[in-house]
Amino acid sequence: MASGTSRDVIGRGLSVLGRAIREQPRIFAVAVTGSVLFGLMVIASAYVVGAVVGEVVVPAIARGSVPAGTLALAAVALFGISVLRVVGIFGRRLGAGYMQFRLQADYRRRVTRRYLDLPLAWHQRNATGTLLSNANSDVEAAWFPIAPLPFAVGTLVMLVGAIVSLFVTDWPLALVGLAVFPALFALNVVYSRRMAPRQARAQRLRAEVSGIAHESFDGALVVKTMGREAHETARFAARAGELRDALISVGRLRGVFDPMLETLPSLGTLAVLVVGAFRLRSGAINVTELVSVAFLFTVLAFPVRAIGWVLAELPRSVAGWDRVRRVLDATGEMPYGERRLDPTNPTPATLAFHDVHFGYEPAEAHLPGAEVLGEVSFTVPAGKTVALVGPTGAGKSTVAALAARLVDPRAGTVTLDGVDVRELRADTLASNVALVAQVPFVFDDTVRANITLDRPGIGDDDVWAALRLAEADGFVAALPEGLDTMVGERGTSLSGGQRQRLTLARALAGRPRLLVLDDATSAVDPRVEAAILAGLRAPTDGRAAASILVVAYRRATIALADEVVYLEQGRVLARGTHSELLAAVTGYAELVTAYEQAEQEREQQRGYDEVSPLTSGLEIEVDR
Ligand SMILES: Nc1ncnc2c1ncn2[C@@H]1O[C@H](COP(=O)(O)OP(=O)(O)OP(=O)(O)O)[C@@H](O)[C@H]1O
Ligand SMILES: [Mg+2]
Repeated sequence: MASGTSRDVIGRGLSVLGRAIREQPRIFAVAVTGSVLFGLMVIASAYVVGAVVGEVVVPAIARGSVPAGTLALAAVALFGISVLRVVGIFGRRLGAGYMQFRLQADYRRRVTRRYLDLPLAWHQRNATGTLLSNANSDVEAAWFPIAPLPFAVGTLVMLVGAIVSLFVTDWPLALVGLAVFPALFALNVVYSRRMAPRQARAQRLRAEVSGIAHESFDGALVVKTMGREAHETARFAARAGELRDALISVGRLRGVFDPMLETLPSLGTLAVLVVGAFRLRSGAINVTELVSVAFLFTVLAFPVRAIGWVLAELPRSVAGWDRVRRVLDATGEMPYGERRLDPTNPTPATLAFHDVHFGYEPAEAHLPGAEVLGEVSFTVPAGKTVALVGPTGAGKSTVAALAARLVDPRAGTVTLDGVDVRELRADTLASNVALVAQVPFVFDDTVRANITLDRPGIGDDDVWAALRLAEADGFVAALPEGLDTMVGERGTSLSGGQRQRLTLARALAGRPRLLVLDDATSAVDPRVEAAILAGLRAPTDGRAAASILVVAYRRATIALADEVVYLEQGRVLARGTHSELLAAVTGYAELVTAYEQAEQEREQQRGYDEVSPLTSGLEIEVDR
């Protein structure tokens, strides 16, 4: 567990419940009112049953007849109590259900909202499976005890009422109650403390099982091609087995404590009958009173268990809450500024890096984070294209992420039209800068929805224009339902190159003033890549050209750039035109040549776009 022992788990659990009550006070009041009404009616029913036995049954046996008035009164009283009890149950259940599910929905929203607000660095440290289980089963666990909570609160009121009425009736009988009820309570507390570590373990394992499942499905392709099915299944089975054992140990504890909790009130009833028999003989109480008290013990047994349910669920609730809070309290938020850029300015933006240093946060806080970029300075002047070239791991994607402000520098500044990007509003950044990432992401939706992303003002004409620029209009037009074609989860029905061009079109549809392409056309035929870039630099549809920062390898692409920034191990080693660098920088020349050779070999071996099942046969025509 995140903190503390099982000892303080009840205290912490109660404070979680307190938070729930503070958040939904009115619904909670309704539920507790219903529950208290129910509790009072339970006590009342005991006394009415006692009275019916004393005034109706005993006289009937003794004299053979009962006045009709008494009989009617008894019937009305029993019926009235039953109706009020039903009303109480209804209010309690409805209130508790509303409260529990509202809190769940509310916190799911808060958690997912927080995920989206947290910076990329945080996501890189947290597994997707864990995030899923935080939003799902942890939120559920945190608010689980809300369901029996109003019942338990009503029961506490009822117990006080019961003890008071016991003392009013007969103090020796009340002492039996005083012995039994606290014993029940103590047993519940012990139960809950024993339960705590088991529940916390089960909750953690739930997250791990979901994490493994998520990873194996996500990597289904690797798992299959590498023949890792058995290994993955075993990995999953091992963790699922641990979860099973953890849950069985929870069940075993339940098996021990539940019967004890059942038995205690019955023992109480027995004690009442023994003590009551003596009191009856000595004339201290009458039959009505004895029956009432004995009946009271019987009917109290069930509601008292509600307290146990709450206490038993508290550890799981605390475990879930700790995990939810870890997300809600996660720091590292990237606050946005308030500045805007002139929204009517159609000219391309100027991007500049000023002596930027950057390092990823280490996976564990105590480790030092190595510097990934140092002293990086360069400019993408308005309307110009700058190519970022460098060996793998040089920091190109990191530069792209900084340019789109997915991460912030440790030192130095990134500016857009001279304004520090940290001072810009979120929507200003989004409408001015578009990043097309190295790994394309496509939503399980239509082609149209993937391009517009519900942004206002992007009509079908704009979509087609963007597709044309991305050289994607051909294959989209050939899809069975055109823009309305569903592309499958993560675009599984598209080829790699098609996916890339779709994400490029998505970026273009927003008419950004700065386009950051992180190896965004690697799976596209080199000729098409060059055509795309040429089209972006000098669009023919009347739109203004964007400034472009492009991570590239291919000579044809690089040659189109106005300037090349050559990066090695996070440092800018050289800047200049392609031919300048080719002549002056050995590392650069080697890299570009090596890439070209590899490219040529690949071209000889196979075509560029993989053929996808949806469009097989169309690619050749489309890509010419
Ligand atoms: N999320 C991360 N956490 C920690 N280190 C990272 C992370 N992402 C990248 N790095 C490290 O930062 C360095 C630069 O990575 P980056 O992805 O920017 O390289 P790149 O030039 O884009 O490489 P490639 O050509 O392979 O795409 C690498 O050493 C890499 O190991
Ligand atoms: Mg990269």
